[in-house]
Amino acid sequence: MKQIQYSSPEISKEAQKLIDRDKKVMFGAHTRTREIPLVVDRAEGARVTDVSGKSYLDFGAGFAVVGTGHCHPDVIKAVNDQLQKLIHISGSDFYYEPQIALAEKLIEITPGAFDKRVCFGSSGAEAVEATLKIARHFRRRPRMISFIGAFHGRTFAGMTMSGSKKIQRGHFSALIPEVYHVPFPYCYQCVFDKTYPACIKKEFKGVPLLHCVSYLTDVILERLIDPDDVALILVEPIQGEGGYIVPPKEFLPALRKIADTFNIILAFDEIQCGLGRTGKWFACDHVNVAPDIMLIAKAIASGFPMSATVAKDELMDPDVNARAWRPGAHGSTFGGNPVIAAAALASLKIIGQKLISNAAKIGEFLKQGLTEIMNRHKIIGDVRGKGLMIGAELVLDKKTKQPFPQSVTKDGKNIKEVITGECFKCGLILYGAGPCSLRMSPPLMITKDDAIEALRILEEVITRVETQLS
Ligand SMILES: Cc1ncc(COP(=O)(O)O)c(C=O)c1O
Repeated sequence: MKQIQYSSPEISKEAQKLIDRDKKVMFGAHTRTREIPLVVDRAEGARVTDVSGKSYLDFGAGFAVVGTGHCHPDVIKAVNDQLQKLIHISGSDFYYEPQIALAEKLIEITPGAFDKRVCFGSSGAEAVEATLKIARHFRRRPRMISFIGAFHGRTFAGMTMSGSKKIQRGHFSALIPEVYHVPFPYCYQCVFDKTYPACIKKEFKGVPLLHCVSYLTDVILERLIDPDDVALILVEPIQGEGGYIVPPKEFLPALRKIADTFNIILAFDEIQCGLGRTGKWFACDHVNVAPDIMLIAKAIASGFPMSATVAKDELMDPDVNARAWRPGAHGSTFGGNPVIAAAALASLKIIGQKLISNAAKIGEFLKQGLTEIMNRHKIIGDVRGKGLMIGAELVLDKKTKQPFPQSVTKDGKNIKEVITGECFKCGLILYGAGPCSLRMSPPLMITKDDAIEALRILEEVITRVETQLS
């Protein structure tokens, strides 16, 4: 393979000054790269303006957080109104209306026609912590199942349940014991070298089993661990950081059946894929499967930090089932903060009114456009996604699905860095995902023109890179 000639984006004087100050005080583990040296001054809708006044089209949305778009006026108004009344009192200990109203709304929109309870936190990882604590406390079983490629956050529970990149777990042992990772249906690069749907050869209690899921039933739960020891299966209905991977429709129904059969709690981490991003409230709504626990964060309050763990009432209320958390077993000082709850209520209203249908409509257009780009070019091997959660996998040669080498430039940059860096130079903010994919996760309010602009920039960049490779 020929090396790609690539120079990092130029940095304005204003931006460089801030980057230099930041370098002296900020921790070294952040994943900011020179390829997107974005120093932001302000943002509105789907546009971000840097400190030198240059405007960018934002197809990352702060990691799928600003679903309603940057600085939505209704969110700002809701926050301003609440700021005049109450900023904090601690929702674990006292009552106030915004927290109750938000819990009611989340119970209404999450799938499952059963009674639920809500526990608020301040980050996605906190919802993961809560989920593990609910499952172990309720089932009184030690073991848990997670998936290769999963990302669940940076706390010990998050790290333990993640299976995305070794850097995220390396040198942090011992992690939480008794967690088993099994393959996620990543059909484009199937670890078993099978092809979907031909890989479905078996059933589990009348439900079709993908080959990779039969590894869970026939190997893990048959030979390695007794299902009676398993408290939890935690899964992203669409993998996010792992590469925007959409599993086949048979996947979640099979997990539901396995969980029900063995009395295992099934939790869906929809922290990235939930809240309208996929063109429905939740990604699992596409296959009509409800979890016992739903994890929500990121887009819930348009950028204010909040997470919600929504579970069947018996799992969270000791008045319903004595095995649930008792008073004092869990809590969070900031969880359900009134100002953030007000932002969340406004955000959910905006998402429910227009943005879910917009995500479905513009997402379809974007995916179609990206698929056409794939068909015209050699280095995009797969386009996948739902709504405005779209991934494109980069390969050196799509006939053989040969991956790019780790480094494609003389100074060791990988192909994701080159492409996102070139897009950035052209005014498009785009992130990588997984070992070798690009992800499109724009605000849900983008227009068709925004989609056309992003596709145009991406195709120009892909063409330039490809010309250098041939
Ligand atoms: C699916 C998923 N779960 C959990 C997390 C962790 O969320 P947070 O960074 O808010 O702790 C993330 C963050 O990217 C995520 O994508």
